This record gives sequence, C-alpha cells and structure tokens, in this order.
Amino acid sequence: MRTEHAHTALITGANRGIGKEIARQLAQRGFAVFIGSRDMAKGREAAEELCQAGYEATFIHLDVTDPVSIKNACGVFSQKADHLDVLVNNAGILEDHGENILKLNPELLDRALKSNVSGPIMIIQDFLCFLQQSSTGGRIINVSSGAGALHDMSTYAPAYSISKTALNAVTRQFAGALQEHNIAVNCVDPGWVRTDMGGTGASRPVEKGAETIVWLATEAPHHETGKFWHDKREIAW
Ligand SMILES: NC(=O)c1ccc[n+]([C@@H]2O[C@H](COP(=O)([O-])OP(=O)(O)OC[C@H]3O[C@@H](n4cnc5c(N)ncnc54)[C@H](OP(=O)(O)O)[C@@H]3O)[C@@H](O)[C@H]2O)c1
Repeated sequence: MRTEHAHTALITGANRGIGKEIARQLAQRGFAVFIGSRDMAKGREAAEELCQAGYEATFIHLDVTDPVSIKNACGVFSQKADHLDVLVNNAGILEDHGENILKLNPELLDRALKSNVSGPIMIIQDFLCFLQQSSTGGRIINVSSGAGALHDMSTYAPAYSISKTALNAVTRQFAGALQEHNIAVNCVDPGWVRTDMGGTGASRPVEKGAETIVWLATEAPHHETGKFWHDKREIAW
C-alpha cells in the first residue's frame, strides 16, 4: 500500500534501543513509520510488533555505512510513499572501550566516522527529494550525544566523541543548506539511556531518551533549526 497522505517518518537503527522507541512513539502519534534496520530479522520483528498493535510500520533494510544499501532503501521507500516528513538519523556505534587518544587506533576512528557521520550525510542526501515533498516542512533529527559537546570535552571515548562532534557540525551544515528548502535540521543529546549501548546502569529509560527527539519531530516550532537539544532545551555545542 502507498502512503500518500499520512505523515511519514524514517528512523535508522530502529530495530532496538532508542531508535525502536522513537518509532513506537511516532507510530502512536499517527505517523506511518519506516523501520530502518541492517538486521533483517530484528527489523521485520520490530515493524511487525507495531503493526500488530494497530500502527502503520514498514521494515526497510538499511545499513548506514553502505551507499548501495541506502540507494536500495530509497527505492523501496519510493514504492511505499511519495514524501518524508521526518528523518531520524539514530543508528550509531560506540566501540571505544577505555581507549585513550594517545593510543587511538585509526581504524576504530574510521569505523566511528563511517557509521556516525558519513552515514547520516549520505542518508540525508539520498532522502532529500522525499523530504522536499513534505507538506508540513521536513524535519531531520540527528541523534548525537553529550560526549560530542566541545564545551566540556575531556578524554572520554575519543573515537565516539569526535564522531558526535562531527555529527553536530553536519547538523549545522545541513541546517544552513536546507533553510531555504523549509527543512529543519537539529541534533539531540538523549542523555544516558538504558540500551545495549548505554548499559543497564544508565539513568534513563528509552521513553525518556526518545522524548526530545519525538518532540523535535512533531511539536517543536519548525523555525528551530541548527541547534543542539537536551530535554527540549537548547544546549551548548
Ligand atoms: N544509550 C545512550 O546512553 C546514548 C547516549 C547518547 C547518545 N546515544 C545515541 O543514541 C543512538 C541510539 O543508541 P542506542 O543506545 O539505542 O544504541 P544501541 O542499543 O546500541 O542501538 C544502536 C542501533 O544502531 C544500529 N546500527 C549501528 N550501526 C548500524 C549500521 N551500520 N547500519 C544500520 N544500523 C546500525 C544498531 O543496529 P544492529 O542491531 O544491526 O547493530 C541498533 O539498531 C546512537 O546514535 C547513540 O550514539 C545513546
């Protein structure tokens, strides 16, 4: 079935963690959600769960590090919908385990940059034609991290932190470039969230981690663009 009129949202890395919760909350608010997932089985399962709860959800195979996968995902999306209202670049990796910048393995940094920076850039570029068709004005939300904030950066997880600082720069660049296209681009620090990445000791449930992202995708004033957010407030870079 083609989604001609519904509000649509694509969330990357939506098969688990914060991404899955963003998809659930947006589906609950009436969006036709597209579950981007590189894991076929888990992606299908996450979409199926939402469909069984009565929501509109479609699995899209999407590895954010693979340009061919992104192009194929665009093709699949175009068969289902003619516009995209919300794009959430949520997929990300954190592979630093006590690494120190003095001994940082460049391959670890390359992997972080590929997933957390180049991936979102390619996805925005390839899905832009659908975002431009949004009747409400497109919204792009990049899921960043407090670890990427320069104002209090120290030595924590260098590859990850550097990649999230770069993602913040990506947000500023696209916000500037897309202002005249009526597309808002923002980034969010979700806080320390109980997921596979955040661990069981994290302070926040996924519901809270998804809250500000969903707010930016729906209720936040559309003129807010090029900013870094935490708990619905603008924060320092
Ligand atoms: N949890 C926290 O405390 C926290 C704090 C600050 C920021 N964040 C950010 O929030 C976002 C979500 O994190 P999370 O805690 O939900 O992490 P998570 O539980 O580890 O989930 C990460 C998601 O990203 C997907 N992913 C990773 N590489 C991918 C690729 N190449 N292509 C497609 N999907 C890929 C994973 O898919 P697979 O299942 O296939 O691996 C998974 O769905 C990340 O950007 C993270 O940096 C999290």
